[in-house]
Formats: sequence, C-alpha cells, structure tokens
Amino acid sequence: MNIVVLGAQWGDEGKGKIVDLLTPSFSIVARYQGGHNAGHTVYVGGRKFVLRLIPSGILHPGTTCVIGNGVVLDPQALFEEIAQLREVGVEVDGRLVISDRAHLILPYHRERDVFAETQRGERKIGTTSRGIGPAYEDKIGRRGIRVGDLGDPCPTVPVADRVREQVAARNRLLGGTPLAWEPVYEQLVTAWERLRPWVRDVSVFLAEARRAGRHALYEGAQGTMLDIDHGTYPYVTSSNGTAGGVCTGLGVGPGAIDGVIGVTKAYTTRVGDGPMPTELLEDTGERLRKAGNEFGAVTGRPRRCGWFDAVVVRHAARVNGLDVLALTKLDVLDGFEILRICTGYRLGDRTLTEFPAQLGIVATAEPIYEELPGWAMPVAGVRDYAALPVETRRYVERIETVTGVPAAILSTGSDRHDTIVREGSDIGAWLRRG
Ligand code: IMP
Repeated sequence: MNIVVLGAQWGDEGKGKIVDLLTPSFSIVARYQGGHNAGHTVYVGGRKFVLRLIPSGILHPGTTCVIGNGVVLDPQALFEEIAQLREVGVEVDGRLVISDRAHLILPYHRERDVFAETQRGERKIGTTSRGIGPAYEDKIGRRGIRVGDLGDPCPTVPVADRVREQVAARNRLLGGTPLAWEPVYEQLVTAWERLRPWVRDVSVFLAEARRAGRHALYEGAQGTMLDIDHGTYPYVTSSNGTAGGVCTGLGVGPGAIDGVIGVTKAYTTRVGDGPMPTELLEDTGERLRKAGNEFGAVTGRPRRCGWFDAVVVRHAARVNGLDVLALTKLDVLDGFEILRICTGYRLGDRTLTEFPAQLGIVATAEPIYEELPGWAMPVAGVRDYAALPVETRRYVERIETVTGVPAAILSTGSDRHDTIVREGSDIGAWLRRG
C-alpha cells in the first residue's frame, strides 16, 4: 500500500500531524514537490517540531525519508534542519535519500524572489521569499543546476561556468552591488561533500523498495489551491502539490499510488495574497485566528481565516481523486454558537458549484452558506467518534455530504494521540498494520 497525503485547501491543513500519525505503517516517507517554503508542524509529547524540507517521517526511527526530483533544495536550509534534528537526538544518516535530479536553490534565487515581489507592487503574491519560484523558473527555463550535476565527472558545461553565467544574469537584472560568483560556487563544492552520501536516483530507489515489499507514504507540501495548475493562479506556489505531482516529482507511475488522503481544516485558512471566498474580515475571523493559533509556521505571518468552503474541497476531491478526508482542528470550533459551510457561490442569478478558473469571477461571487449549530461541550482531546457531541458529528457528516468524500480521520488537538480514526475506513487497517 502506497498512499498520498496532501493538502485540500491553501496549505497549513495539518498534513504534518497526519503524516506523523500514519508513518509507523510505512517504512518510506517521500516529498515530491516544493521546498523549504513548507512548514510541517508536529507535536510529540508536547514538544513542537517544524520541518521544512525533510519529511516529517524523520521523527520515527527506522523510516527512510526521501526528497524527490520535484523538490527544490536549498543546501543551507537542509543543513540547518539536520543540525536542529541532531540537537534533539534525531539522526538522518542512513535514513535520508535525496534525488540527483532535484534542482538547487541558490542565493540569487532568493534575491530574485524578493525583487520579483517588489516589481509586482500591489499585485504581489506574498511569497515566502525562499527563492522557490525563481528556482523552478530556472528549472523550466533549462538553466537550473541539479544536485547530481555537482558530482558529474564529465559535465558538458562545468558547474562553475553555469554558476558564473547565472550570477552574471542576476547582476544584470538586479543592478546594485554585483554578487561575486566564486563564493556561490565554493559553497556548492562544500555542500556537495556533505550531500554526496545521501544522493541517488530516487525513481530507482522507490522501484527497488516496492519490489522489496516496502510501503511508501508520499507527502505533499502546500495545498491544492496553491498548485501551479489547479490553484488560484497566479496566487500560487510554483509546483504541483496535487496528486499528479507524485508521479513527476518522484519518478513513479500512477500504479504506485493506492490511495489519496486530502487533509483539510474544519474551517479555511490562507497565508499570502490571492482570493479566498469565505474569508472573514471581522471578529469571527480574528476569533478563529486566535483559537487556531493561525500564524505561519515558516514566516510567522497571520493567516487569513474563514468558514469551511466545500467548493474548494470538492475541487480538491476531483483533481486529486481523494479517497478520504482527514478533517483537522475540529477543536478550534469549540464554543462557536453557529457554524457555516459554504456550499456554492452566487454570481448574479447563477449558482456556481465548481471553483472557477477566472479570479475576477471568484472576486465577484458571493459564498452561499448553510448554518449549523455549534457544540457546547469542548471536543479538544476527544479520541472516540461516539463521544463527540451530536452537533459535531452532524457538522462532520454534513461536510462529508457536501464534499462527497468520507472524513476517515478527525483531529481534535495538536498531539499525535488527539485523533479519531473512523470505523470502517481503510485507514484503520493501515494504522493497525503499523
Ligand atoms: P512561494 O511558494 O514562496 O513562492 O509562495 C507562493 C504562495 O504560496 C504564497 O502565498 C505563500 O504564502 C504560499 N505558501 C507557500 N508555502 C506554503 C505553505 O507551506 N503553507 C501555506 N502557504 C504556503
């Protein structure tokens, strides 16, 4: 069994916790896209871990963590993360595999990211300034430098020449004090010495692992609505966080995917700019932000908060072929008298049931809400479905109806154990096997 865990909204859905929960049933956890713009938060024994690049499976001894070719890798960010893990006694040696085809993020990518945002002015995307977009631009523009290029014994164009050309292009674009290419290159040479033992062909590694009967969990970063193709373009990240990204980002065929879990909050959040139809700009939004501690794991920015948007999650269900939902942060809704679920958008006299591609339409359309009663008894820490208040169960079941996807996992708190796995779902079988 190989499964995908990905975000069904705009990222920050709680994928880290779900991956962490499922990891004991899998011996491999593989990232297939994004970079250190992601921030997967996991709480174990009350201790908080924020993982940006290395899959959250690293917190489970014996799990192999894979960084696929679809990821863009900043070596310095990786080394910092490894150092932080070592401080708490987590060793990565022998457990980390990095694709030789993954593209590198270099200092000029970070500068170009900031520059591009300044150029966009009012229409800025609100990127994480980590150089993600420019690194993918260079990949698609066929100028990028891949991890494996650093160790290529017979390069067509030496890496030093490519760095020199890229830095010269950066200097022409940005002006100001020119960047010297030599330190950038020297840093890469040093980085290669450290990276070398972990680097290999990930597609071959995963094929061998499958033949050996090992099970892989594919971990998505960001979310469906931030996907470069299926998200709210141009207010998106530069990679495919949707299920299709697994095949291209790891070098596996569609048959290597047996199930897809879409992680979604019991409400909606978004960090950065771009449309968000159910955003609440008044007190209720602030209340959700406080109750859910909705501040970015990577940048610390306050997240925009709003009601659950079933149009968004239905879109995610379709483009990813979701088998089940993992519904997180139910406890954040504790104490709300009335809850709302957006089931469609009103555009003039039309009702839209699918998320439109045109952002003008998204901006003009009004959410259509259903109201449900909230629950008086807190659900924080409840670990049994039957012990949830009837109103909570009604809310969950309504979400299942309007999205068309069963909510197999419910999360009622940040700890690994504050989780309900619903009876009758395949997920239960996967967990028990672990
Ligand atoms: P970039 O990925 O840094 O280029 O940022 C593009 C957009 O994606 C911005 O709106 C970011 O806030 C958003 N974004 C990137 N990574 C994450 C994430 O892990 N969670 C939530 N939003 C993200």
